[in-house]
Amino acid sequence: MALVRMDKLVCTAAGCSRADAKRLLSSGAVTVDGKTIKQGSVKADPDSQTVCIGGKPVKYSEHIYIIMNKPLGVVSSTDDHDGQTVLDILPEQLLRKGLFPAGRLDKYTCGMMIITDDGDFAHRILAPKKHLPKIYQFELDAPILNEQLRQKFLQGVYLGGGEYSSPAYLDIISPTEGRVTIFEGIYHQVRRMFDQNGGHVIALKRIKIGGLPLPDDLAEGMSRQLTDDELKQLFETEKEVL
Ligand code: URA
Repeated sequence: MALVRMDKLVCTAAGCSRADAKRLLSSGAVTVDGKTIKQGSVKADPDSQTVCIGGKPVKYSEHIYIIMNKPLGVVSSTDDHDGQTVLDILPEQLLRKGLFPAGRLDKYTCGMMIITDDGDFAHRILAPKKHLPKIYQFELDAPILNEQLRQKFLQGVYLGGGEYSSPAYLDIISPTEGRVTIFEGIYHQVRRMFDQNGGHVIALKRIKIGGLPLPDDLAEGMSRQLTDDELKQLFETEKEVL
């Protein structure tokens, strides 16, 4: 890995703001190969050097992977023409240059979002060829859910505008409520799947991406970094469809 400035390294490794990283450095809590470093502008190589904060070795990752439980009314695009964005509600210590959502949700869809600064990682989540399932919980305004519709979804669904989804799985909870698993992220996909079949989505929440469910303890509006185990879990279902 290339050399990294200590203020960037400390703030990423400790999950703190730049200002807190500066304070940690000037307090003498940070060492590189045993030598105290107080200046943020000094550079270190996290691959070949041991960086400790408060005596404990820390891990530095070039990119950041954030999970958010998006609330209703917040937009997932990164410009603010449409109101408050997911970046506006991230805590300061998670903010970086180049963050973007790996898969958008409509303003009035809530639930699981992944936000990152790693384009290759986002591609693994989004590319239809990767076939990563996304599961949504929904409620409809009309009691149209039945076995016939479940079978229809298994063939792929017409979305209007000449577009079709790939096969989708319907899990029916009641005639108006269920879960649907889709494998791509076409614009307004879930809403359009039901609009074409006589029902209108009145509540929509993404509850799982790949093998990773939205954690129960991540309250609406909250975000944190994904753990290494969660990153693995995310791609547990990944397969190439050729
Ligand atoms: N499908 C939709 O219709 N909206 C979303 O936000 C996500 C999937």
